[in-house]
Amino acid sequence: MAAVPFDQLDGHIWMNGEMVPWAEAKIHVLTHGLHYASAVFEGERAYGGQIFKLTEHTERLHESARILGFEIPYTVDEIDNACIQLLHKQGFQDAYVRPIAWRGSEMMGVSAQKNRINLAIAIWQWPSYFDPEQKLKGIRLDMADYRRPDPRTAPSKSKAAGLYMICTISKHAAEAKGYADALMLDWRGQVAEATGANVFFVKDGVIHTPVPEGFLDGITRRTVIGLARERGFEIVERAIMPEELEDFEQCFLTGTAAEVTPVSEIGPYRFEVGEIAKTLMNDYAAIVQPARAAAAE
Ligand SMILES: Cc1ncc(COP(=O)(O)O)c(C=O)c1O
Repeated sequence: MAAVPFDQLDGHIWMNGEMVPWAEAKIHVLTHGLHYASAVFEGERAYGGQIFKLTEHTERLHESARILGFEIPYTVDEIDNACIQLLHKQGFQDAYVRPIAWRGSEMMGVSAQKNRINLAIAIWQWPSYFDPEQKLKGIRLDMADYRRPDPRTAPSKSKAAGLYMICTISKHAAEAKGYADALMLDWRGQVAEATGANVFFVKDGVIHTPVPEGFLDGITRRTVIGLARERGFEIVERAIMPEELEDFEQCFLTGTAAEVTPVSEIGPYRFEVGEIAKTLMNDYAAIVQPARAAAAE
């Protein structure tokens, strides 16, 4: 059976302060965000009726917009409340939350100083980013052709829609070859991240992950680093060259959507789904549950 298209799901979308029926949450084709990628967004997950690290996500949304030169006309508190209200209205316990802010359609052209800044929030049910069966065996990654840009070339600290252009191209190319995703290097040729998740490696019991210089320092990344330290694992944030992949024993991805996903293959390199990856996968699954998350704050 074909999946229901995203513009035809049920319920409501919060749009500029109103609860709009899902199918009516539309924008005009002459929208600056569509033509010039003047849009920033978030990806959040609700577990057991509560959105994990909601305020951190909302603060990042504000910061992403600030980096792109616009201010979202709702406070962090107002956006948090809108997300919570919408989650209740949608009636989901476990769901994905997608706030997006964009420049509207008042002016067309590179300059859009007077355009309204819009904000919408959509919430849908989305159990697993990668195939759950594959996730337990470890997913397979290709090497992407595109590199994460130099922070002097693009606003890489912003979760800006425009930066996902190279991610979609890279993920599509990987999928066409039968891979689940692609690993991207950065502008210097160092290992950066996957197309929508951060990456970690394990060697001799030590966890290694790249320094977030040209890519998002993911909220999940930081959470997993905390969990690993609580377990007493050593974590080294450092420059990782692609040639080193041969020596790593385990690899896993982290992200709101991906959660903690073991990796079994990157191009010619093989990894085991080992104890550290499995432990952190389970620790993360435990901490996102509302009672545990509240206790950890
Ligand atoms: C490109 C990219 N890197 C990393 C991440 C992980 O970020 P987070 O853990 O905050 O979801 C995401 C997901 O938002 C992403 O899209």
